[in-house]
Amino acid sequence: MNEHAIGDPLVVEHVSKVYRQGAAEVNALDDVNLRVRPGELVAIMGASGSGKSTLLHAMAGLIELDAGKVILAGQNLAELSDGPLTRFRRDNLGIVFQAYNLIPSLTAEANIRLPAPKSMNERLDAVVEKLLEQLGMTARRHHKPGALSGGEQQRIAIARALVCDPAILLADEPTGSLDSVSGTQICELLRSLVDDQGRSIVMVTHEAHVAMWADRICVLKDGTNLTELTTDGRRDPQTVAREYQEALGAGVIG
Ligand SMILES: Nc1ncnc2c1ncn2[C@@H]1O[C@H](COP(=O)(O)OP(=O)(O)O)[C@@H](O)[C@H]1O
Ligand SMILES: [Mg+2]
Repeated sequence: MNEHAIGDPLVVEHVSKVYRQGAAEVNALDDVNLRVRPGELVAIMGASGSGKSTLLHAMAGLIELDAGKVILAGQNLAELSDGPLTRFRRDNLGIVFQAYNLIPSLTAEANIRLPAPKSMNERLDAVVEKLLEQLGMTARRHHKPGALSGGEQQRIAIARALVCDPAILLADEPTGSLDSVSGTQICELLRSLVDDQGRSIVMVTHEAHVAMWADRICVLKDGTNLTELTTDGRRDPQTVAREYQEALGAGVIG
């Protein structure tokens, strides 16, 4: 495949981000590059503080960059002002967080409907119906988040992220609050969104048994890309863990 195909859904080029707190500066991202191709599940793997969440926020246009650019669905995010950026994000991007971020007072179904624009009016019922069915949540639709398990809440959060049918999904430690069985189910779900629906997903994790579900694993250390691991569809957590440790140990920038 052409390394520089212009149709790639997400391109991160030479992105740097410095957080300043008084006199202190943290180089959260330092010249990071990443390209996500259509229908690809990419994991960003790194220790706590390595810049994974900052990179995800940069991809979503949620933070201002000190250098570099993010091109999402062909659009340089820096060229959009706040209003157009919000609409662009809504139409092209779904975001899922570790902590689900559901509204506790709303039912599961109402949470899914929340981001939908008025213009979806007639289509929305059918879209929500289909999402509930696909995610196995139809029977739980009237429950509020507090009455749902962690895995169920994350399914609802994923359904909410999909309601505007985005081509790209970003997930920050989506299994981080789940037991291993529910975590695996969420990984299977993300995988099927890629394999069956052709979406592109970037998933942040520090765990090999989650990263192994990806097609490629981008290893971050101290805000820089160290290397990229490929899984070749093997889903072998031991190999991923070993190669990840080797990458961190070698510290090779590649
Ligand atoms: N809003 C912020 N203000 C100051 N420093 C921050 C902020 N967000 C993150 N950082 C710092 O940037 C670095 C990367 O953080 P983060 O992207 O959250 O890492 P990760 O998600 O890999 O744990 C850390 O040193 C963190 O303390
Ligand atoms: Mg984080």
